Amino acid sequence: MFKINENYLKLPGSYLFSRIAGKVNAFQKENPEKSIIRLGIGDVTQPLAPAIISSLHAAVDEMADAKTFRGYAPDLGYEFLRNAIAKNDYAGRGCEIAADEIFVSDGAKCDSGNIQEIFSTDNKIAVCDPVYPVYVDTNVMAGRTGTYDPSAETWSDVIYMPCTDANDFAPELPGETPDIIYLCFPNNPTGSAITKAQLQEWVDYANKVGAVIIYDAAYEAYISEADVPHSIYECAGARTCAIELRSFSKNAGFTGVRLGFTVVPKDLKCGDISLHALWARRHGTKYNGAPYMIQRAGEAVYSPEGKEQLKKQVAYYMNNANVIYEGLKSAGYSVSGGVNAPYIWLKTPGSMTSWEFFDFLLERAGVVGTPGSGFGPSGEGYFRLTAFGSYENTVAAIKRIKTL
Ligand code: MLT
Repeated sequence: MFKINENYLKLPGSYLFSRIAGKVNAFQKENPEKSIIRLGIGDVTQPLAPAIISSLHAAVDEMADAKTFRGYAPDLGYEFLRNAIAKNDYAGRGCEIAADEIFVSDGAKCDSGNIQEIFSTDNKIAVCDPVYPVYVDTNVMAGRTGTYDPSAETWSDVIYMPCTDANDFAPELPGETPDIIYLCFPNNPTGSAITKAQLQEWVDYANKVGAVIIYDAAYEAYISEADVPHSIYECAGARTCAIELRSFSKNAGFTGVRLGFTVVPKDLKCGDISLHALWARRHGTKYNGAPYMIQRAGEAVYSPEGKEQLKKQVAYYMNNANVIYEGLKSAGYSVSGGVNAPYIWLKTPGSMTSWEFFDFLLERAGVVGTPGSGFGPSGEGYFRLTAFGSYENTVAAIKRIKTL
């Protein structure tokens, strides 16, 4: 008789955003007349920029002609896209990253979940708390997290690095030494950012203790402050300790289009084993490349028109962030984030738990957000709103919240 991977049975409940969708759908079914504004999952709402649409059309036309038709994409990504990424995201920021250190994929969520496969299951992970749930859940599936304590909502073998208003939502170096450190800045869910000097401390620490940093920079396009780094490779020494995850979902609206990439520098080694070679092997075996049309769309993100149009799109969402931030602040809420990231993190009013506030907001205002405790124990008593809605819905949601 076959056996299942029992680690899956250890996962408590359903994935955070599936649970929220289930609750909202059930509520809508019971209250069909109620208008619901969704500021929960960080999903974009603005149409794809015209430069991206033209490039998609052109690429589709190429597929209709035998001379330009393409079959399987190279599994590490087309050179035209890897070159554009290396030039714009790295050389343009003074980072030494070569095109062949960039692995194109169908998104950062998959890569952030899959990257742990190249590490031993007895490695110890450290995560910020609160944290994007994919990092922890995928390590649970791999059997790396020990036992679950349902009352504390923590795993015995995970090092949690609390991020609360006491430390300005920036993790401190852990007391216990981890092997793998997950960092996401600008941060999901708190919307906080760290300076280049703060990130340099992490890079120095990782190199000193022999840890690897998995750095999720999916929200870098939303950075507005000059001393906040866009890439971990802006820090000296990052090539020997860091893997970087990037996404086209938030900077270019590709949540439904799907495109991302992971950088594994050739200098990142465990003894004399190159992690670059391991990830290339994994990619080659398990992945057949992002579609040609989508990679051409990704290339358009770096064209002069694409850059201009996307700058406006990012500004549109950041204006929403400001509407939420200022609106809630004037209503007496304690708020943070929203300056270098499209997420606003607020304290739940009174002594409401995160989930109580979720229900309260849904039932009383028809507004969906994300309960902070869904991201980890230090998220209890907090709540996340996303700036990715339409301007009209964002304004309406804040108006509704203010009348509560
Ligand atoms: C979120 O809402 O946290 C993100 O949209 C999730 C994701 O990017 O997968």
